[in-house]
Amino acid sequence: MVKDVLIIGCGCIGLSTGILLLKTKQYNSVKIWAKDLPPNVTSNKAAALWYPFLSNPPDKVGKWSAETMEYFQKHILNDPKSGTLLKKVNELFRKPKKEDPDWKPFIKSFRRARKDELPEGYADGYAIDDGFVMDTDMYMNWLVDTFKALGGQIEQREVVDIREPFIYSDIVINCTGLGAKELVKDGHMYPTRGQIVVVKNTSDRSIMDEEDYICYVIPRISNTVLGGTAQDHDYNMNPTKQDTDEILKRVAAISPKFSRRKLEILGVKVGLRPSRYEIRLEPELLQDNSKLLIHNYGHGGSGFTVSWGCAQEVLNLIQQNIPNLKQSKSKAPILQSKL
Ligand code: BEZ
Repeated sequence: MVKDVLIIGCGCIGLSTGILLLKTKQYNSVKIWAKDLPPNVTSNKAAALWYPFLSNPPDKVGKWSAETMEYFQKHILNDPKSGTLLKKVNELFRKPKKEDPDWKPFIKSFRRARKDELPEGYADGYAIDDGFVMDTDMYMNWLVDTFKALGGQIEQREVVDIREPFIYSDIVINCTGLGAKELVKDGHMYPTRGQIVVVKNTSDRSIMDEEDYICYVIPRISNTVLGGTAQDHDYNMNPTKQDTDEILKRVAAISPKFSRRKLEILGVKVGLRPSRYEIRLEPELLQDNSKLLIHNYGHGGSGFTVSWGCAQEVLNLIQQNIPNLKQSKSKAPILQSKL
């Protein structure tokens, strides 16, 4: 019990990381600093289906996704306050699909869809019977409440210089998502804009079609999310009518059940996925090895899906690097980022 840890960022990645750190009871204090707090963070805009999507590298995403699924099954799914819901998920293909997904070796329950699971016009599909979704706002509230109940502290505070948090803590975890572009000058970070339509109607399963375009139906506790878009380098936070029309047209092509006149639209949301050619989850030792910075960002469309696996990896990296941490000579480090 010697170290304080400071996490920058209060999305699902920062909060999951904080919760696992607190559960070890090995740290004096675990604090989060963030420019924006839930519900005003990117995570609150997410469809929040467990499904590896728009993120790399495939082997690590597969491993972290499987670990996250296991964590949900053991610790979260049976807590009604968590807003999580067990639902089968089908990814559908209009043409026969030879390849299995990259993450298949990691997910024991993966199978091919049966004929009776394929809507008209679809020739093939993947299925996961023990898939699950999160009612995003409920789940984010649950993460915040769990973090605080374990003794974590949250402060709304913008960090513009990565040296600043090291004045208070020798260990800092960078969970800033797209914010890492500025904070640690990561030129590999870019937004992938996603628009969703929230409707009252429901569905017995989650459905994905990402073959020629992106289309999904994600039923949650209080509503259903219809999506989506994936517009790289687009910072437009305003919903567009063109995207809404396109989403509703694609969803209607899956089943007449989702035709526009049958839908009760509750709202339209836009979020910017924190994209990178691969997730950055690695340590950086700074200031003569006296400060430890761990990066945990760039999760693209898989933030919720890999969150607990990535949090566990952060814990492992801290444990591996604490023995290398030397006594600090000065309070504020000079950052020598590898970027
Ligand atoms: C999305 O980023 O839009 C998304 C991610 C995972 C599952 C479904 C949608």
